[in-house]
Amino acid sequence: MKNPYAFMEAEVLDIAAETSNIKTFSLRPKNALPFRAGQFMDISVPGVGEAPFTPSSNHNISDELDFTIMSVGRVTKMLYGMENGQTVGLRGPYGTAYPINEWKSKDVFIVGGGVGLAPLRALLYALFNNVNDYKKIILKYGARTSKDIVYKNEIESWRSKANNVEVELTVDAGDQTWKGNVGVVTTIVKAANIDINNAVSIVCGPPIMMKFVTFKLLDLGLRAENIYLSMEKNMSCGIGKCGHCRIGPYYACKDGPVFTYDKLKELPNIWD
Ligand SMILES: Cc1cc2nc3c(=O)[nH]c(=O)nc-3n(C[C@H](O)[C@H](O)[C@H](O)COP(=O)(O)OP(=O)(O)OC[C@H]3O[C@@H](n4cnc5c(N)ncnc54)[C@H](O)[C@@H]3O)c2cc1C
Ligand code: FES
Repeated sequence: MKNPYAFMEAEVLDIAAETSNIKTFSLRPKNALPFRAGQFMDISVPGVGEAPFTPSSNHNISDELDFTIMSVGRVTKMLYGMENGQTVGLRGPYGTAYPINEWKSKDVFIVGGGVGLAPLRALLYALFNNVNDYKKIILKYGARTSKDIVYKNEIESWRSKANNVEVELTVDAGDQTWKGNVGVVTTIVKAANIDINNAVSIVCGPPIMMKFVTFKLLDLGLRAENIYLSMEKNMSCGIGKCGHCRIGPYYACKDGPVFTYDKLKELPNIWD
């Protein structure tokens, strides 16, 4: 029987700095690894350990995958020390994907914070593949400062993708170079932006940001079953065996990481 924990070798093709503590790693797995936007994979650094990350690239391309990674601890720091040509391990994809086929003809209202734009980049590419299937695709993204904005070189091209695509950025703290909105991301989440009765919203970022954006969306009248959250719980096995990632009756690795808020709203401590 196939070992469910077996990793596939993947070569580091490129490492691009996004901000002072976030980099995008382009990896070429030994064999193509098809995934859908929203799913995650475990990356292992030999001799150090493994950690879950969501591919941030277009799901149409399965022989070269991007992962946008913030340096926070053991595994991520080792990844930061790697160079092109070195090898990591990949297993997955795991978990639930964004059900983009259910969103046709709707406003798709995407709200991201910090490195939370990583899975949302994969989602945007998936939506852009059939951009006219959606009424509007709206991205609202917040970073701490202009220096903390990821994918700076790409965001302009997203804005001009099609007439039904809107992009707005905000920073918590402005400076002389910043001409956009200053304030947390909820300040650019407004009723005027969406057709609330024909919209879904997808939220990804730090737990505190997801909490306040969710409450704002509910205040605006969006229904809990139309709010999609990417829940990043501590994980170990990634395949529903160890129980590390429990959220009430669910395992974030198997039943998530993409959940609609109506499934989670009665559960305690979901934002911890
Ligand atoms: C489904 C899923 C998808 C994910 N996708 C991404 C992704 O695309 N990009 C990405 O950068 N991260 C992502 N993460 C988070 C990532 O898995 C963790 O940052 C990673 O496990 C940290 O591993 P480490 O060994 O470097 O840190 P550890 O050594 O395990 O942790 C070191 C310290 O950092 C803290 N820490 C751990 N994670 C975070 C965090 N996210 N933010 C702040 N502090 C933290 C810990 O509390 C601890 O104090 C995802 C997590 C899940 C569950
Ligand atoms: S990580 Fe083991 S059950 Fe989810």
